[in-house]
Amino acid sequence: MTSLQIINSTRDFVRKKLEKAESGHDWYHIQRVTKLAKYIGEKEKADLYIVELAALLHDIADWKFYQGDSSEGPKVARKWLTKLKVDKEIIDHVAEIISEMSFKGARVISHIRSLEGKVVQDADRLDAQGAIGIARAFSYGGYKQRLMYDPKIKPVLHKSATDYINSESTTINHFYEKLLLLKDRLNTKTARTLAKNRHKFMEEFLEEFYKEWNFNS
Ligand code: ADP
Ligand code: NI
Repeated sequence: MTSLQIINSTRDFVRKKLEKAESGHDWYHIQRVTKLAKYIGEKEKADLYIVELAALLHDIADWKFYQGDSSEGPKVARKWLTKLKVDKEIIDHVAEIISEMSFKGARVISHIRSLEGKVVQDADRLDAQGAIGIARAFSYGGYKQRLMYDPKIKPVLHKSATDYINSESTTINHFYEKLLLLKDRLNTKTARTLAKNRHKFMEEFLEEFYKEWNFNS
């Protein structure tokens, strides 16, 4: 198989698998992240083949839905790429990117090593910000039956991945626990430039939200 054929069948495989996924990780999220990753990867001179494969496969199994086990995604990706007879070196690289890229709490350090991993992580983190980021957060909150806001519950900067996934927080708190922190955790200059507007939009949204919440005539 040529690289192009491998990309195309991987795209079909992921589309079929995530078409009906909950809205945080549906096929459209993968499409947006792949497009962003290719753009950033080109500007940052990364290997675009690795970037595209990792972007397509990055949410193939969500660690949050496997009791915090982050080995399931890389395992599924590995099995798939092995079936396509992709070089072992490339499979190892893609699997490593997938296992390291998720946000697991404000105080949990991520260990992305390669430029390609940094690019895909940045693309994923851009799609968690801005108008799309806001929509995804409330959609995820609804799916988990969380309150959108409760002024009595304060945000927490989680020290471990377990605390982070088990937290019973509100969706507004998720902005302080993750979304507003992302702009300072991007790896590349290209992503930092793209993040500016998205970040500002979230700040404006929160300002308007509190204004309406605290309405008095
Ligand atoms: P990532 O792809 O960066 O690892 P996640 O898998 O953690 O993101 O989450 C998928 C989407 O759901 C993201 O848009 C994220 O911000 C949102 N999300 C995750 N946890 C929460 C939460 N506790 N409340 C609201 N939204 C959340
Ligand atoms: Ni993602």
